[in-house]
Amino acid sequence: MPSVIKNHYQWVVDMYVCICNAVTDREIKKAVKQGVNTFDQVRDQLGVASCCGQCESHAREVINEARTAKPVFAGIPLIPVSMPHMA
Ligand code: FES
Repeated sequence: MPSVIKNHYQWVVDMYVCICNAVTDREIKKAVKQGVNTFDQVRDQLGVASCCGQCESHAREVINEARTAKPVFAGIPLIPVSMPHMA
């Protein structure tokens, strides 16, 4: 279900990627976060691109974006810090 979420830093608006099956970018990103990594797996799980297929290239872009996304906390990117003196 598309939604608008407000926090202190930004508005996040869901965007439909697949109109035929009402699949949003948030749903695709959530699936990738949960380990669904390939386009075929996303299509099988969410039904994206299983009707007219017009959304396939956009769905692939969202999947790739989700795979390479860096973790964030409250809109602030989390950057790993090495602490050699702790090793
Ligand atoms: S828009 Fe996704 S299958 Fe038609």
